[in-house]
Amino acid sequence: MMKTSDNIKETRELLKPYREGKIALVPTMGYLHEGHMALVAKAREHADFVVLSLFVNPLQFGPDEDLDTYPRDLARDLKICEENGVDFVFHPSEEEMYPKTPELGLNLASMSSILDGLKRPGHFEGVVTVVNKLFNIIEPDFAVFGEKDRQQLMIIQRMVEDFNHDLEIIGVPTAREPDGLAKSSRNVNLTDAEREEAPAIHQALEIGRDLVLEGETDIESVKERIEMHIMDHTSGEMDDLQIFTHPDLNTIQTVSTDVIIFIAVKFERVRLIDNMLVIIN
Ligand code: PAJ
Repeated sequence: MMKTSDNIKETRELLKPYREGKIALVPTMGYLHEGHMALVAKAREHADFVVLSLFVNPLQFGPDEDLDTYPRDLARDLKICEENGVDFVFHPSEEEMYPKTPELGLNLASMSSILDGLKRPGHFEGVVTVVNKLFNIIEPDFAVFGEKDRQQLMIIQRMVEDFNHDLEIIGVPTAREPDGLAKSSRNVNLTDAEREEAPAIHQALEIGRDLVLEGETDIESVKERIEMHIMDHTSGEMDDLQIFTHPDLNTIQTVSTDVIIFIAVKFERVRLIDNMLVIIN
């Protein structure tokens, strides 16, 4: 039987008997989809006991962002967890997680000056704060994150190294809809027309990837072609488009090593992100 709790103290008590085996944590903000379940399946490969956390973390949303419209449905999420073999769901309230306004925070160095670090000031500081708390509450042996949010995955990996968290981070490839759109809780906030256009994001990444694989080395040319595809096929606004080296995220003008293409497109009510790793050798 799946167990659940919205209480930190109770969660710690309930987890005690399972500490002899390996515990994996899958942190989420809920409104679960197959991407989240791919993380659960990966967690299951590594651990005897799979914990999923459900918490829409207000700290990681900016004042003009979609905290209020972020989809929520606890009953639906619990059912999905049960059906997918999650052992324990931790679903705290905001008061339980933040009884006081946090006095201390974590700062990011280089990661706050690129991509969503730059576009969403305070976002990753909010993410690392809540993930740090979740690691302290659950004390997992493994924690699983998606490559869909690749910058987040890289930052969490660095947090574990920088702060000596005694656990292993596992990354999972992006789960996509049949038309290529990356699965996301936010997709339900697309209009019908936008939903039809949104696969252009992944198509644009594929165009960029193919150009690089065919030998195009000029970053600006690749970006131009990607942007053109978005402009021609969506009503969205290109919010960010960057190509960095993998895995160091160095800025380049010319491709000479593996790269990651990062993209963010703003629709009326939703900002969608995606990325593509291009291995050139
Ligand atoms: P959320 O957006 O709910 O995502 C939870 C986890 O699922 C993240 O690790 C994310 O990368 C992964 N994920 C989302 N869509 C995916 C997809 N299509 N394929 C594979 N993995 C996918 O990311 C967050 O929540 C929050 O920032 C959180 C880490 C929980 C901290 O609040």
